[in-house]
Amino acid sequence: MCGIVGIIGNNNAKDILIDGLKKLEYRGYDSAGIFVNNGQEDFLVKEVGKIKELENAISSNVNGAMGIGHTRWATHGKPTVENAHPQFSEDERFYLVHNGVITNYEELKNTYLSNVKFASQTDTEVAVQLVSYFSKQGMSTLEAFKKTVNLIKGSYAFGMVDKKNPDEIFVAKNKSPLLIGLGDGFNVICSDAMAMIEQTNQFVELMDKEVVVLEKNSYTIFDKDDNEIQRNSYTVDLDPDDISKGTYEHYMLKEIDEQPAVMRKISESYFDNNDDVKVEEKLVNDMAQADRIYIVAAGTSYHAGLVGKTLIEEMTDIPVDVKVASEFGYHMPKLSKHPFFIFLSQSGETADSRQVLVKVKELNLPTLTITNVKDSTLWRESTYQMQLFAGPEIAVASTKAYTAQIAIQAVLAKAVGEKMNSQKAKELDLKEELALAANGMQSMVDEKEMLKKLAHEFFINQAHAFYIGRGVDYDVSLEAALKLKEISYIHTEGFAAGELKHGTISLIEEGTPVVAFINDPNTSEHTRGNIKEVQARGANVLVISNEKYKQDSDQIVLSSINEMLEPLISIIPAQILAYYASLERGNDVDQPRNLAKSVTVE
Ligand code: M6R
Repeated sequence: MCGIVGIIGNNNAKDILIDGLKKLEYRGYDSAGIFVNNGQEDFLVKEVGKIKELENAISSNVNGAMGIGHTRWATHGKPTVENAHPQFSEDERFYLVHNGVITNYEELKNTYLSNVKFASQTDTEVAVQLVSYFSKQGMSTLEAFKKTVNLIKGSYAFGMVDKKNPDEIFVAKNKSPLLIGLGDGFNVICSDAMAMIEQTNQFVELMDKEVVVLEKNSYTIFDKDDNEIQRNSYTVDLDPDDISKGTYEHYMLKEIDEQPAVMRKISESYFDNNDDVKVEEKLVNDMAQADRIYIVAAGTSYHAGLVGKTLIEEMTDIPVDVKVASEFGYHMPKLSKHPFFIFLSQSGETADSRQVLVKVKELNLPTLTITNVKDSTLWRESTYQMQLFAGPEIAVASTKAYTAQIAIQAVLAKAVGEKMNSQKAKELDLKEELALAANGMQSMVDEKEMLKKLAHEFFINQAHAFYIGRGVDYDVSLEAALKLKEISYIHTEGFAAGELKHGTISLIEEGTPVVAFINDPNTSEHTRGNIKEVQARGANVLVISNEKYKQDSDQIVLSSINEMLEPLISIIPAQILAYYASLERGNDVDQPRNLAKSVTVE
């Protein structure tokens, strides 16, 4: 989704902005732009498409010590140069970049800006035209900016420049992420620390409805009540090498390959020297007292939550509901008496999940965020935190975060279950299982050539496909289908194997690819029956089974671990099949069309 960068006090502003925007590319975007000022002249360059195209459009005379940059993921208005950011006021004095959605932009336009000529279809332009409008009424730029953000409803992260005073960048945020970074003689803004980690590792978090005036050697924060406040920086521990592709052609393949190492890292981080599971005691106590656990998440994280439900229910006996964040917040069911909320999110920034967290906090209920990104919004705003330790995940299609989320939920379930004297929790040798999972993942990762051929055989030239399974295999089918559809653009459904015959089987025709998971001890025979049903109607079936339930004709055989944790291994071939299907179809594997990595609008 949209990404913001900005810098003040560094003569190399243009290159730093471009480099920062490249680091934000993973978030997904369809156009980009920069504004740079050198005290005498200013330069605005915007392009549709990739940052490479923006870079090519920037002439060599563009230079300056301050500027703002943006990657836009279109919401209001098509991806065009006019709609790309920075947006500017009619008099071309104010330039602004925005991440978020201004929900009352039409009302503001009608109330204040009926005489203004708009150059774009964006909601964003209203903000910059409003600043100009108030400034023309005699307000200082800061007053006009504050007045504007006070009128705006919805979500925003803003970086704004006043050409008449290029010594300041005006910053504000509400719901959308934005950080300030502190350098030696310069300061920066960014949607994500990753964008500026090569400039500084000192960042200052911003709270909703705060306004900041950023200068090259200082920053002034005003809270939501307009009081000037102090806030210190914190250190972001991010190695720039972790965000490089290394020798890989795509981040996605690198991240798939990293999964065995992530399992080992989780083991090291969450077990002590006696091999006892290590989770914050207060969190364990709080969760053990819950009468129901709600897992709230979106997309792949939601699918990981489905696997987590089985793990937590089996090991703690506490009932678990897994909820899609965008639905739950606005249609909250009647909650149990002592609920406990778990937010699962790779990025820790997903707006759909965050709006639920805000509501749950208002009810004073305990919350845990399990995320890959320490100090992200969900991390900061929840009662408890657990880190995924998966390392930066850059490809839009989530892979290693999914398996890490399952592993961390297993750690949590074991810790809480042991606290509650659950026999199942005590008996599960989770450290050993994670080691087995790492080995099983590695065996699949080593089968890329075979999986590449299968991807060709099953998915090339197909418009539709199905993944089916029962129990946790059904949970994995949902994630496997999401992987295939989001990067190959083949319409793919994940289905409960037994449910197909109740309607959806009518879609099966000669050659339809159906991938079946057979790892569930209670239902492997039933799923075999369902395979026969679709084969009888012409389906081309690919079976992913584990060594306990395999048959000679099964194309992919996994090593066997505790059945609740089998998804850690069974998802790997599906991720690799999706990767090769996408590659063979000539798609952009890491940045599939229409998608964003960090979905910061509702
Ligand atoms: O950062 P989050 O885990 O909260 O993101 C939620 C979804 O947007 C995300 O899992 C999405 O479904 C994946 N990129 C799909 O691979």
